[in-house]
Amino acid sequence: MTSRGAHTAPEVVVVDDPAGVAREGARRFATAVTNAISARGRATIALSGGSTPARLYDALAVPDDTTRLPVDWTRVHLYFGDERCVPPDHADSNYRMAREHLLERIPVPSAGVHRIEAERDPDDAAARYEARLSEGLAPGPGAFPRFDLVLLGLGPDGHTASLFPGTAALGERTRSCVANRVPALAAMRITLTFPVLNAARDVLFLVTGSEKAAALARALDPDALVSDCPARGVSPIGGRQAYLVDRAAASRLPPGP
Ligand code: 6PG
Repeated sequence: MTSRGAHTAPEVVVVDDPAGVAREGARRFATAVTNAISARGRATIALSGGSTPARLYDALAVPDDTTRLPVDWTRVHLYFGDERCVPPDHADSNYRMAREHLLERIPVPSAGVHRIEAERDPDDAAARYEARLSEGLAPGPGAFPRFDLVLLGLGPDGHTASLFPGTAALGERTRSCVANRVPALAAMRITLTFPVLNAARDVLFLVTGSEKAAALARALDPDALVSDCPARGVSPIGGRQAYLVDRAAASRLPPGP
């Protein structure tokens, strides 16, 4: 999508610091899970990679009194929004980060964790994950697999998941998961695509730190192009979208109303 994304104005929630983003993110995560289970008997979540979500996963795994949250992990299915093309025990693996901060600390059944097999050939891994998404999730808008909640991060260049500026995956309109060559990283990634992100009931961006301030301002700018800021391409169809950010990341946003 090289034109402006068909953007509905997302909710923007500014909290003081990364710990506040983690607490509020964990609260929203638990609410989405509880609502999904009561409505459909299960909850399907796409976890974000990178480093920002680690605090949120910690808050879910070891809730303190303020974040003690009733999550019925036995009814939750955890997927991944993207993955680096490395083995699951590699330091760069998004699965490894989620395992250390969340998966090995909660009673989620092994059948409820759906890892991207990124140690395989990238195209093969993407095709296998696409099949797993179709098997595990009910169809949503455009018959794409519909998540109850997708967690996303934001890179300083405006990328989200592994949808990087100038990469082929930005133009994908039929597949829900693809292998994506990222020249800026001289690496292959595996990523969910815009159609499946935009089929979600809820999308929650987690953005902290002053190094994200310019990208966040672009991501929320109606005149920014998706090709320049891929996060602009996220606009759930019939779903909700929120940016949960700290003051440092929000420092370049226009003053609120
Ligand atoms: C990844 C993520 C990526 C990440 C952003 C922000 O695999 O790295 O999917 O989109 O969310 O790069 O990363 P940080 O949270 O580390 O700043």
